Amino acid sequence: MNIMKNKIPPSENRTLVFAKFLESKGFRQTPERRAILSEIYTFPSYFSLNALGERLAKKKYTVSRGTLYNTMTLLLECGLVKRYLVGGRVRYEKTENTDFRNTEIKQTMKKVDVILGLQWGDEGKGKIVDVLAPNYDIVARFQGGPNAGHTLEFDGKKYVLHTIPSGIFHDHITNIIGNGVLIDAQIFMKEIAMIRANGYDPSKNLKLSQKAHLILPSHRVMDAALEHIKGSAKIGSTLKGIGPTYTDKTARHGLRLGDSLEADFKIRYEALKASHIRQFESLGFDWKKHKIEDLSFAEYEKKWFEGLKEMKKFDIISSEYFINQALDKGKNVLAEGAQGTLLDVDFGSYPFVTSSNTTTAGVCTGLGVAPNRIGRVYGVFKAYCTRVGSGPFPTELDDEVGEELRRIGREFGATTGRPRRCGWLDLPALNYAIMINGVTDLVVTKIDVMNDFSEIKLAETYTINAKKTAEYSGGNLDEIQPNYSSFAGWNQSLADVDTYEKLPKNAQHYLNFVEKNTRTKISIISTGPNRLETFFN
Ligand code: GDP
Ligand code: IMO
Ligand code: MG
Repeated sequence: MNIMKNKIPPSENRTLVFAKFLESKGFRQTPERRAILSEIYTFPSYFSLNALGERLAKKKYTVSRGTLYNTMTLLLECGLVKRYLVGGRVRYEKTENTDFRNTEIKQTMKKVDVILGLQWGDEGKGKIVDVLAPNYDIVARFQGGPNAGHTLEFDGKKYVLHTIPSGIFHDHITNIIGNGVLIDAQIFMKEIAMIRANGYDPSKNLKLSQKAHLILPSHRVMDAALEHIKGSAKIGSTLKGIGPTYTDKTARHGLRLGDSLEADFKIRYEALKASHIRQFESLGFDWKKHKIEDLSFAEYEKKWFEGLKEMKKFDIISSEYFINQALDKGKNVLAEGAQGTLLDVDFGSYPFVTSSNTTTAGVCTGLGVAPNRIGRVYGVFKAYCTRVGSGPFPTELDDEVGEELRRIGREFGATTGRPRRCGWLDLPALNYAIMINGVTDLVVTKIDVMNDFSEIKLAETYTINAKKTAEYSGGNLDEIQPNYSSFAGWNQSLADVDTYEKLPKNAQHYLNFVEKNTRTKISIISTGPNRLETFFN
């Protein structure tokens, strides 16, 4: 299952690309052209035609200005060089490995691959991270917190992870909870206990960012208080304290894991808690009566501090340095997203969203990796749609078909147990998510859920105010009318299907349609919850 299969050295690769290009144009591959191609790769940065000519001359190649110019035009056409016009001067640059000016880094530099959700969460991200993890040295969560529930199934067991990255069951992989993540000490330790009880030792392969923010017990109460006063307009939050903790982070009075190592932590903790209590009181919220996971505030707080004490025994690091230095050394890094694109605080169905950037941009801020260090982006989507909590859902099915999707797909929240709302696949929303994230590879999950459906639908466009559109706006979509295309089902189990060719023709037809209409390759297909029920396309 190794997907990093491109083993051709870059120099041979580009020679091949150029040779094929010349052949397709009916041009000859001359020694001069070959020499020009290899010479441009000796320039660390921009170069002029004159400089190129001089270097070739030093190596005893007499290449006329005309040949130089023509060859560069051909190389431009086949994408092996870029041309810049700066202040009226033309400069060329090779296209390969130009992201970094530091030549030392260039030799070995790796990029961070990303796995994230393209819908409203629960697309099966955890399972896909677990499947791809053996290709990586590091798996890092970049945003969200214990509002996430990522389910993994292997060796006859099912595991649900909330804060800990889904690479944790692979000993050789370093798992990192990045600076963009929120940690609740109590939930974190419960998760650690679950992992230990199953025979794994996370203290060996889990590291935590010192910059990750802490969810205090009073943040959880605040989440409940704010939802309470919203009444029917509530977001349907998971009540894990996500909104209030990110609010304190951006308001610049949050507490970070690193702060818990300082002598004045308790004083700062009490000050923040006191300010939360003042807010509960002004909202008229009876926080003393409020239970957190069936515990009183004082009981929860006690467990939280016990959890924090244990948590401090883990490796607390500067994860941005750890990750960037690992990349420089040629290590492979996978970033694991939580929630989904349509829950992104900027691009989702605001205000019915979570409070972080769930999109590729969140990898940069949540791990400290630069945009030009983002590699492949695996966008995970279900073959239909689900949503937990409130907010617009254009293709929602309030009928027995929706019931069937929920029943067969076991669509109940992995974190809260709430029934998930179900509906058909939404192409405008999917294309929007692909655009926002720069998805390079699609991953489809749960096609098996529709095995016995005689008809499958998919929204190709919307009609809004009598106008047809293929654009998802994310806003209030009450007026929206999805325009569906219909597909015949395949009425067959996918239990023995482990290649694209073995998929029933009607399933192929459905997936081909998605590929064609998103112009993005479906690289991975998941046909069941188990690690093994996955294949590359
Ligand atoms: P995540 O939050 O994106 O990691 O997804 P969840 O774990 O919350 O929800 C996905 C659910 O679907 C879990 O129960 C998975 O075990 C399950 N699942 C994942 N992929 C497949 C699949 O291809 N087929 C079926 N039937 N279930 C799947
Ligand atoms: P994973 O990572 C599905 C939803 C909540 C609510 C909204 C805001 O498992 O895909 P929050 O607690 O974040 O303030 O809730 O977002 N939500 C999720 N829905 N999967 C998730 O995570 C979710 N995390 C939050 O239901 O509507
Ligand atoms: Mg989930």
